Amino acid sequence: MKSALSTAPQDKRRAAPNLTAPQGSRTARSLVQAALLNRAAKPMLFVACLLPLAWLVYAAAANQLGANPAEALIRRLGDWTLRGLWLTLAITPLRELAGLPALVRFRRMLGVFTFSYASLHLLAYGWLDMGLDFNDIAKDIAKRPFILMGFTAWLLMAPLAATSFNKAIKALGAKRWQALHKTVYAISVIALMHFIWMRAGKHNFAEPAVYGVILAALLGWRLWKRASAKRG
Ligand code: HEM
Repeated sequence: MKSALSTAPQDKRRAAPNLTAPQGSRTARSLVQAALLNRAAKPMLFVACLLPLAWLVYAAAANQLGANPAEALIRRLGDWTLRGLWLTLAITPLRELAGLPALVRFRRMLGVFTFSYASLHLLAYGWLDMGLDFNDIAKDIAKRPFILMGFTAWLLMAPLAATSFNKAIKALGAKRWQALHKTVYAISVIALMHFIWMRAGKHNFAEPAVYGVILAALLGWRLWKRASAKRG
C-alpha cells in the first residue's frame, strides 16, 4: 500500500497511453494531465486551500457564524480537516483510476494544509473553549474520549507533516519514510471515530456515515489492489 498523507517524493512517472480508450477520452485526459502539470496549478491549489480559512475569518469578522461563533469556528475547522484528509487519501486511487499520474504533485500540499487546519482546529478549541488553560485542556483530553481521539489523530499527524520535506525524506530513507507515512490510514480511522463519537452525543450519524462510506471505499480500494498484486 502506498502512503497518502501529503508527501511522497515527487513521482515522475507518466501515464502510458491507453490505446483501447476512445480517442475523445484520450484527448480529454491529455488535456487534464497537461493542466495538472501547468506551472500555475500548484499556486491555484494553494489559493483554493486557503479559501475555507479566508471564508471563516470573514464570517467571524462579519458576525455570520451564528449564535455560538466559537463552536461554529471549531466545528467548521474540524470539517475542513476531515475533508482535507479524505482528499489527500483520494489522490492515489484517483490518479490510477483516472489515469492522471500528475495528480501526485498535489498530495504533499494537501497533506500539509490538512495538518494546518487540524492545528487551527486544536488552537480554536484550546483558545476559545478552554481559554488556553493547559491544565484544563489536559484534564478535558483525559476526560472526554472524543477529544482524546482528536488529539491522538493530531499527534500522529505531526510527524508526517514534519517529514514532508525533501530533506526529511532523504534523511529517513524511502522505506522508513513510507512506513511512517502509512500511519495516515490509522489517522483517518481515528479521525472518523472522533467525529462519530462527537455526534453520538446528539444521535446524529448522517454526516459521519457519509464520511465513513467514502473512507471505506478509499481504504477498501487499497486493500483490493494489494490483494490483487499478491495474487499476481
Ligand atoms: C485529525 C484531527 C481532527 C479531525 C479530522 C477533527 C475533525 C472534527 C470534526 C469533523 C468535528 C465535527 C464538526 C461538525 O460537527 O461539523 C470536530 C469537532 C470537534 N473537535 Fe475535532 N478533529 C481533529 C482533531 C481535534 C483535536 C486535536 C481536538 C482537541 C484536542 C479536537 C476537538 C474538537 C472539538 C472540541 C469539537 C467540537 C465539539 C462540539 O462542538 O461539541 N479535534 N472535529
